[in-house]
Amino acid sequence: MKMKKKMNCYWWHALIMSGCVLGLCVGIGGCVCVVENENGRIIIDISHRYQPDMPAWESKDSLGQFLWLTRSMANGSLANFSQFKLPAHSGTHVDAPGHVFDHYFHSGFDVDSLDLLLLNGPALLVDVPRDTNISAGVMKSLNIPRGVRRVLFRTLNTYRRLMYQKEFDTSYVGFTEDGANWLVENTDIKLVGIDYLSVAAYDHLIPAHLVFLKGREIILVEGLKLDDVAAGIYTVHCLPLRLAGAEGSPIRCILIK
Ligand SMILES: *[C@@H]1O[C@H](CO)[C@@H](O)[C@H](O)[C@H]1NC(C)=O
Ligand SMILES: *[C@@H]1O[C@H](CO)[C@@H](O)[C@H](O)[C@H]1NC(C)=O
Ligand SMILES: *[C@@H]1O[C@H](CO)[C@@H](O)[C@H](O)[C@H]1NC(C)=O
Repeated sequence: MKMKKKMNCYWWHALIMSGCVLGLCVGIGGCVCVVENENGRIIIDISHRYQPDMPAWESKDSLGQFLWLTRSMANGSLANFSQFKLPAHSGTHVDAPGHVFDHYFHSGFDVDSLDLLLLNGPALLVDVPRDTNISAGVMKSLNIPRGVRRVLFRTLNTYRRLMYQKEFDTSYVGFTEDGANWLVENTDIKLVGIDYLSVAAYDHLIPAHLVFLKGREIILVEGLKLDDVAAGIYTVHCLPLRLAGAEGSPIRCILIK
């Protein structure tokens, strides 16, 4: 009985936020998927919905159809039954060290080897100045204190609504190689989150990834949905799929306040 009451409560709140549930969020702005429980605790969903018109890496045409019914009740099956096929680095996703290091790939440093303690815990959401990529100078100016281990970087990408554009945009904001170096050498940040499909700026794509993933200590979460969330401290929870042998995985991330 108790369980049922709880579920009704969640469902009821989900209906209130139907702008998100029905996908009407896109283009309107100001819509945050929030679930509130009995104790006033707030959950903010910072994962993007996987849908055909979301941008895909270096594609002009978006992700495209990736989900289809293979059995349908309309056709006399006892149940509806879908399949999907998705690039591992789609939408909100995580990179494992094997993404840019062949020897790590072969040694089994896949998404299933990532540290769940690092993917879950206190996190800082910061605003990056909107007129720049994340260089060493920018990192320095953000003044992120030592001891902070998880940082989600909100950039111009969020304001440009790049994750809602069908076409992949190479002018997105990300880390430059020296920005990545600065983070590794001068901070304790081990979880780096960003609001477009790569933490590295397009012109620094491989060099910045190499800097981040070389030590196998840093986890990169890309394509986060950071719209309409106040900057500040939260508890982040990110859970990748246990895809054995995969150097990337869709990941579900939420913030709890
Ligand atoms: C159901 O059957 C129709 C007609 O044979 C077919 O066009 C359709 O693709 C089927 N749908 C599924 C989900 O199997
Ligand atoms: C099953 O899928 C069909 C489409 O083939 C849809 O019309 C129907 O609503 C679905 N049924 C359920 C129970 O979701
Ligand atoms: C960030 O770098 C990319 C190239 O990697 C460039 O196209 C873009 O204009 C830069 N963005 C800003 C805000 O400087």
